[in-house]
Amino acid sequence: MSDLTYESISAALSESVKEKFTTEHFLYLEETGSTNDDLLNRIRSGKAKHLDLIVADLQYQGRGRRGDRWEASSGRNLLFSIALKLEEPKENWCRLPHLAACVLGSSVESVLTGESRLQAKWPNDLLHKEKKLAGILVETVLVPEPFAVVGIGLNVNMRTDEFPDELREIATTIYELERCESSRSFLLGEIVSGFANGYPNMLTNFGEVLDWLEARSVLSGRRIEVVTTEGIVHGIGHGLGNDGELIVDQGDSGLKSILSAERVLFR
Ligand code: BTN
Repeated sequence: MSDLTYESISAALSESVKEKFTTEHFLYLEETGSTNDDLLNRIRSGKAKHLDLIVADLQYQGRGRRGDRWEASSGRNLLFSIALKLEEPKENWCRLPHLAACVLGSSVESVLTGESRLQAKWPNDLLHKEKKLAGILVETVLVPEPFAVVGIGLNVNMRTDEFPDELREIATTIYELERCESSRSFLLGEIVSGFANGYPNMLTNFGEVLDWLEARSVLSGRRIEVVTTEGIVHGIGHGLGNDGELIVDQGDSGLKSILSAERVLFR
């Protein structure tokens, strides 16, 4: 039996979070194509509730951003999607991917021993020593009701030598930081608490999210190349704008604010 049960995840949750996140909100799947697809389908069928969560031990079509695949061995990492009901004002919705990075990163840091601090790579990757620890894929559905699906792949107990060759040098896991296995259910409980307590209020009180991300940004002060659908932007990372957009200092050409990009590379 998997360690990912409602009972194990909710064991350390506060009563107020347990009221919002009940057994009705929780679905465990031994395997599936993609938890994001499963949750998007549930939302489209009109049956989803705020904080519905689908977690799987194995995904055979795990999706990353830009159509990339998301890889993880069965039962070792966390692969899940959580539904967040989108509320007015719409102008704040673009802040959600950044809020998700902050909630996820704070939850992970709360279980790390020692001095380990994560790095944030815009728009919402979490790294440690410049190796990727977690990825977030946010997708939205507007009909029958506006919802966001926050899909999270968090590398927990895999060893880096278990990753495919092309990821071995660029990915890391909590095991590699801590040198011991972590409880996936406790971690998931922390993350659920973070969303239950932090959403939607942190979309309006966004300064806290920006401060968290700025303090950990790997792009600030670095020479970067940002590949966008409108072309390539070169410059020095210059922090984040009010909604979490990336600001690039292009020297004589001034500051450029970027809302979304295909890739961000160090140069
Ligand atoms: C990224 O490219 O960095 C985002 C990766 C997101 C992966 C997670 S795993 C759970 C959820 N289901 C998916 O198919 N993708 C997300």
